[in-house]
Amino acid sequence: MTDNTVIPVKPDLAAGSRFDAARRAEMAERAARDPDGFWREEAGRIAWMTTPTRIKNASFEGDVSIKWFEDGVLNASVSCLDKHLAERGDQVAIIWEGDDPNSDSKVTYRELHQRVCRMANALRSLGVKKGDRVTLYLPMIVEAAVAMLACARIGAVHSIVFGGFSPDSLASRIQDCDSTVLITADQGRRGGRTVPLKTNADEALKSCPSVKNVIVVRNTGGDVPMQEGRDHWWHTLSEAAATDCAPEPMNAEDPLFILYTSGSTGKPKGVLHTTGGYMVWASFTHELVFDYRPGEIYWCTADVGWVTGHSYIVYGPLANGATTLMFEGVPNYPDVGRFWQVVDKHKVNIFYTAPTAIRALMREGDAPVRKWSRQSLRVLGSVGEPINPEAWLWYYRVVGDERCPIVDTWWQTETGGILISPLPGAVDLKPGSATLPLPGVQPALVDGDGKLLEGATEGNLVILDSWPGQMRTVYKDHERFIQTYFSTFPGKYFSGDGARRDADGYYWITGRVDDVLNVSGHRMGTAEIESALVAHPKVAEAAVVGMPHELKGQGIYCYVTLKSGEEPSDALKKELVAWVRREIGPIASPDAIQWAPSLPKTRSGKIMRRILRKIAANETDSLGDTSTLADPTVVEDLISNRAG
Ligand code: PRX
Repeated sequence: MTDNTVIPVKPDLAAGSRFDAARRAEMAERAARDPDGFWREEAGRIAWMTTPTRIKNASFEGDVSIKWFEDGVLNASVSCLDKHLAERGDQVAIIWEGDDPNSDSKVTYRELHQRVCRMANALRSLGVKKGDRVTLYLPMIVEAAVAMLACARIGAVHSIVFGGFSPDSLASRIQDCDSTVLITADQGRRGGRTVPLKTNADEALKSCPSVKNVIVVRNTGGDVPMQEGRDHWWHTLSEAAATDCAPEPMNAEDPLFILYTSGSTGKPKGVLHTTGGYMVWASFTHELVFDYRPGEIYWCTADVGWVTGHSYIVYGPLANGATTLMFEGVPNYPDVGRFWQVVDKHKVNIFYTAPTAIRALMREGDAPVRKWSRQSLRVLGSVGEPINPEAWLWYYRVVGDERCPIVDTWWQTETGGILISPLPGAVDLKPGSATLPLPGVQPALVDGDGKLLEGATEGNLVILDSWPGQMRTVYKDHERFIQTYFSTFPGKYFSGDGARRDADGYYWITGRVDDVLNVSGHRMGTAEIESALVAHPKVAEAAVVGMPHELKGQGIYCYVTLKSGEEPSDALKKELVAWVRREIGPIASPDAIQWAPSLPKTRSGKIMRRILRKIAANETDSLGDTSTLADPTVVEDLISNRAG
């Protein structure tokens, strides 16, 4: 595969799209020349109670202040619900497809509006007010979207914690933002198994005194204890509540949600998104990138616990009046044809998933795909990690029958929505490239010193100026926000990713250049896994790095030094894997553990991760300079005892 493999835009697609190459070029030019004028117009895609007159007010210098539409007043739930009632109240808003292929349901915009209003009233009746934080720990059920929108309706700030996180991880996220309410379910379902959400929540809440009320969805009907005075059934609260609820007027810069994400140091940070800019960005990008057309069925396979679920299952599609599909299950249950069975069943037009799923399905061969017609598919998307050209081409040829363009969308929790991606009717594709920035986005590459690099080159990916969907701060820690994103290259937003730009100006994301891992599209910090390991009574020290992994993209490779007197054994390895899963969650399952009598350190005591990464990747003939090590013989030992 070379940079020269180009798949041109299909003429019929360009002809039918609102966003062809000429329109895209015109938008990009106008957004660059007159950002205020451009975004004033785009702001019209959502519903305002007071139309903003001040549009952009952002600086990446000094204290870093980012404001968009700052005198506008709105409520996000109105754009997702009320706005559609007159025109498409009876259109399906959410198709829910259960883990069990025999269970599904449909919710119209009118029904969703009522369900959201009921839950919003219920939250108010529990004393929840504008600005209060509500944590959601839910499976992929309609109630997750209802809970998000109900919070938005009354101005409460939701913080969703992915259902695969452990009680400890849930507790620390509740404590950080002092949530007063937790919304969860008795159990979740995934791949034919149940997930003990309420049990985990009870465990977490032992160390969360701020939580006064717990709302529990009866989902599986599993037997769970309810604590008198604290725990309430969702259905009981909902049934008692009225079906209309006045939306709280929110300033454009009032918070909409917090979402915790991993960085290279310390605890996960609370990424804060506000209301106006985020909603405009979610709507704008969902329409452009997927070339969304009214009436189409759109399916993003992410979980609402991640930012992709926020922007591209709930807020973006609903703001655009789309029919969005929510899937409770997994790609390989009851069999590896599940995705395509669901595509045919619900006549899905736009399908958005992660490279890790594509790679896993590719390994199963073409037959489970070909068994289904997939004729409804029009656009395919990819998100979460770099997609290797081989997987891209399989997705294109086998899943999309060479008919559907693939939008490889690059973005992050911090960016709120997609920043770099092809538009189906406008941008020629290159397998493995996220291609070009969206209108209004100014990416650039810089070298290690922050010098801007021109032309075809490789470097650190930065964004030069603000876009409406950008995060505004780290919750309760603006200094960390400045330090993390604006101090490495002052005056620029640093993504933490590296990228290459080819002669056509196309971006090829190469992956993180910091200590953040991307395991099956799940983001985690090496520091978090290390602190979980050293919390084990037998572990003295640990260093964690990523290693190449065929299916997961990256695997977790751990170097562990035991306390003196402790004996290494396979049983202890298993125990440590289970320990990390219990501390953080099953998504952080170590793939390899190597006993390290000592770790390679500089004379000042800094662990040389570069060398550890090379050993983990089995690239030991290119270790680079080891002369600064305090004790170079440590490396020999690690190489000869590599965990195969
Ligand atoms: O390394 C990039 C990778 O995922 C990181 C962001 O992770 P998260 O905040 O969890 O958001 C994931 C969903 C947007 C990025 O720093 N990443 C995301 N999309 C791509 C990608 N890497 C390459 N190509 C992509 N399309």
